[in-house]
Amino acid sequence: MRMKKLIARQLRKPSGIAGRWFVGKSLNKSNGPLEDMGLELMQLQPEHHVLEVGFGNGRLISRMAEVVKEGSITGIDISRVMVSQAKKKNRDAVRSGKVKLHRASVADIPAAEATFDRVFTANTVYFWPDPTTNIQEVLRVMNSGAIFLCGLRLKGDMLQMDVVAENRDIFQNLYTLDEITSLLESAGFVKVTPHVVQRKYFSDVIVVGTKP
Ligand SMILES: C[S@@+](CC[C@H](N)C(=O)[O-])C[C@H]1O[C@@H](n2cnc3c(N)ncnc32)[C@H](O)[C@@H]1O
Repeated sequence: MRMKKLIARQLRKPSGIAGRWFVGKSLNKSNGPLEDMGLELMQLQPEHHVLEVGFGNGRLISRMAEVVKEGSITGIDISRVMVSQAKKKNRDAVRSGKVKLHRASVADIPAAEATFDRVFTANTVYFWPDPTTNIQEVLRVMNSGAIFLCGLRLKGDMLQMDVVAENRDIFQNLYTLDEITSLLESAGFVKVTPHVVQRKYFSDVIVVGTKP
């Protein structure tokens, strides 16, 4: 299989030896600043119940667990390898029950209606099987007044990368700023606000919406 296809598949769903040894670590390096931005925008409180969709190897889960004391953190990711790495990284918090990590898709979130105060995702929306429906599933598990933070790189930046441009069957959903804002607004989120930070070669973007 061609190398770029292999990389694209690993980014969508890390697996096997490559997933175990390289993908999580390299994601932390390239996506750490976007997660830091998310943590700041989240205004996390000790009593919050938080969901992260597509947590990779669980770096942000650990950082959120430092803030959340009486609340809880749930993570879902479709990759067995990422779930296992994130569980290892967050062993104590998983043991105590504060952090719960599941192998599951955004298409079918294993949580009751109106469970979470914050939902965060970074660099996963490209791979969602059906964003219009999946975002309704995100809304379902959110409390009224809860905040959804959708972190991504925009279509123009993504298409600069050969691995993305040559594998649109894997990177299925790419958005301009207007398109991602509309996705949240059409789903029913209110106070939808994009936050954009220009880095050296691309912009980090987080679109924030509130469930009415
Ligand atoms: C490019 S990685 C991003 C990981 C991390 N959020 C970051 O920014 O470094 C995409 C992650 O989303 C997960 N993922 C892909 N499709 C998903 C889906 N439908 N539901 C939940 N997680 C998914 C992958 O397994 C992978 O861990």
